[in-house]
Amino acid sequence: MGISIRLDGRLSVCAKYVRRGAVLADIGTDHAYLPAVLAAEGRIARAIAADIGEGPCENAEKTIKSAGLGDMITVIRTDGLRGVERYSPTDIVIAGMGGETIMSILSAADWLDSHDIRLILQPMTRQADLWRYLCENGYEITATDLAEGDSSAPAGKIYEIVVCSPGGGKRELSDIDAALRLYRCAAPARLQRLFAARTLSYLDESASGLAKGKNTDPERLRRLDFIRQGVREKLESL
Ligand SMILES: C[S@@+](CC[C@H](N)C(=O)[O-])C[C@H]1O[C@@H](n2cnc3c(N)ncnc32)[C@H](O)[C@@H]1O
Repeated sequence: MGISIRLDGRLSVCAKYVRRGAVLADIGTDHAYLPAVLAAEGRIARAIAADIGEGPCENAEKTIKSAGLGDMITVIRTDGLRGVERYSPTDIVIAGMGGETIMSILSAADWLDSHDIRLILQPMTRQADLWRYLCENGYEITATDLAEGDSSAPAGKIYEIVVCSPGGGKRELSDIDAALRLYRCAAPARLQRLFAARTLSYLDESASGLAKGKNTDPERLRRLDFIRQGVREKLESL
């Protein structure tokens, strides 16, 4: 089966975490590139390519038709994970969306309670809030990864990927883990260092902004100093 699609760095890292033989649900699939590549390579049993938009569903249908993968991938138009349970997915990718949208998709899917389901999330924004949400709602974070943007991405962009499973207990998330999010990170050390250095300079800027403020709560500054120290130590250890 011929397919000429090449996944960008971000989707390639997401693809790495889809288990062999999976029933994949790609939520917010747009062109269905991820399921098409995995199906063409024989790495998944079948896939659901889901999107809320009519245009993206048409894009997905076109990709699937031209790759001759109609018997392996079903396109559905739906909001988030609504109705996706009918297809019994084992692995779910939600990539290229804001963290807020990902949180609202997860919170609307009350059927998502089996520890056997693997979620591969790639939030574009509000990453720390998404981590808090996952920990508070019993998702176990099993891996994280990073991907560099390709030529179409803003210069130096680094994308975050978090792999998790539902159905666990509520977990504590330390302020340092919420800020840095390199827990069980599989990315190359060079990329982790770059990411940690950026996080630290962002925290340093926030601290100097806060320090200049007239009515800054000293407790807030102390907390930020503690987080900066933790991130600095992690950076030095990488
Ligand atoms: C930027 S594209 C990402 C495409 C692909 N997943 C990727 O990472 O390259 C975001 C897609 O998410 C879809 N989307 C946004 N909100 C959604 C929701 N609540 N449910 C399903 N799809 C959604 C949009 O229609 C759009 O096609």
